[in-house]
Amino acid sequence: MANVAVVGAQWGDEGKGKIVDWLSERADVVVRFQGGHNAGHTLVIDGKVYKLSLLPSGIVRPGKLSVIGNGVVVDPWHLAKEIDSLKSQGIVINRDNLRIAENASLILPLHRELDILREEAAGAAKIGTTGRGIGPAYEDKVGRRAIRTGDLLDLQNLRGKIDRLLLHHNALLRGFGKPELDGQKVYDELMQVRDTVVTYLDPVWHLLDEMKKGRKRILFEGAQGILLDIDHGTYPYVTSSNTIAGQAANGSGMGPSAVSYVLGIAKAYTTRVGSGPFPSEQANDIGEWIGQRGKEFGTVTGRKRRCGWFDAVLVRQAIKTSGIQGIALTKLDVLDGLEEIKVCVAYMLDGKRIDIFPSSEEAQARVEPIYQSFEGWKDSSAGARSWTQLPAQAVKYVRYLEELIECPVALLSTSPERNDTILMKDPFED
Ligand code: GDP
Ligand code: IMO
Ligand code: MG
Repeated sequence: MANVAVVGAQWGDEGKGKIVDWLSERADVVVRFQGGHNAGHTLVIDGKVYKLSLLPSGIVRPGKLSVIGNGVVVDPWHLAKEIDSLKSQGIVINRDNLRIAENASLILPLHRELDILREEAAGAAKIGTTGRGIGPAYEDKVGRRAIRTGDLLDLQNLRGKIDRLLLHHNALLRGFGKPELDGQKVYDELMQVRDTVVTYLDPVWHLLDEMKKGRKRILFEGAQGILLDIDHGTYPYVTSSNTIAGQAANGSGMGPSAVSYVLGIAKAYTTRVGSGPFPSEQANDIGEWIGQRGKEFGTVTGRKRRCGWFDAVLVRQAIKTSGIQGIALTKLDVLDGLEEIKVCVAYMLDGKRIDIFPSSEEAQARVEPIYQSFEGWKDSSAGARSWTQLPAQAVKYVRYLEELIECPVALLSTSPERNDTILMKDPFED
């Protein structure tokens, strides 16, 4: 069996969408297993741009099944909008190519409002969330009071479930000095989008098991990045789900043995959106230069991404916590023309050299990066489709990173276009 999990090895926006889209040619099914529409995955196919937040990137390829697993939090209003927007771009979406787990939790407008309310109340200590209700929706899931996708099939009991949810939320709203919510109104609003969700519902774990028996190839599409993982990330400046590769199994209803190869995606430098530690950040002309060349603006919120040098300590750590077997290195072309490139190879913490990232928030804020300087290259690597088309110094940079992160580069991406990709090792042929 050859199933591949793709996960971001930094703070998100590594180019997962592009790589999943490229790999999906070799797959039968593409599965999202965590996160929600906080993700923003960009695909560029023959110059045409597709932006996906909730739907798996496989949706753009005819004949591939896209699956939203139980680990995803689903905003039905956003789902309807994204489906419409893709349909207007000529993509066919129906039950033949899209299924949604009937045990996934829903994001309701009250989650989005609470997300925003909390961020405003936190002031300078805010997380810098996408404001899409992701955190509050996951809280309700583990709090055992969420409304799930499958609840929309059983209208008799839905109203009672909404009341149970509102018992909690109205207490919170009272605390914030905000008006309480009416259960019937929440119910009526849900009815407007019910059909969109119900059309695609399935016991996804069972469907995937059938696929497995039929020796179909499954591609798991991670959202966010490992440094945003709720356990292994830069807590509390993280998202509210597990983003590590182990979640591919939990978030889809397949056992851990379902994943045969874990591919991590990393940029040739580092970016981060929102608050939190970022040791190799370049809040200066270099960071500005990288941001402009790399077009580092958020797909979801349009926010400017913070930019900095490649942090080999963090990527190596991400590789270990996710069991990554190969890296797809993206955006190498963005570094073309730099005279000097730096790589963070270790940190200083309170006068001592360390080579792992500490887990406490306070220590994370105190670490100082130790850089290795690297000579840049003048020639262009943009659009290269083979090793031989790469500047010699760029090849050296890739080899140097492989050594530092203790993991081979399996794929290399040299532009946003689908086919500007160099394959060194086929993840499906492990
Ligand atoms: P994701 O969230 O990991 O899917 O990444 P995003 O789509 O949010 O951000 C990555 C951005 O980089 C997108 O605009 C991509 O089109 C673009 N991109 C992906 N790979 C490359 C690459 O190799 N070179 C360049 N220049 N851009 C890339
Ligand atoms: P993709 O899949 C980059 C960040 C937010 C914020 C933190 C928590 O495109 O890589 P949340 O709304 O999830 O509660 O926000 O996580 N974040 C992302 N950053 N890429 C993403 O997704 C992100 N999804 C969430 O900016 O710092
Ligand atoms: Mg993104």
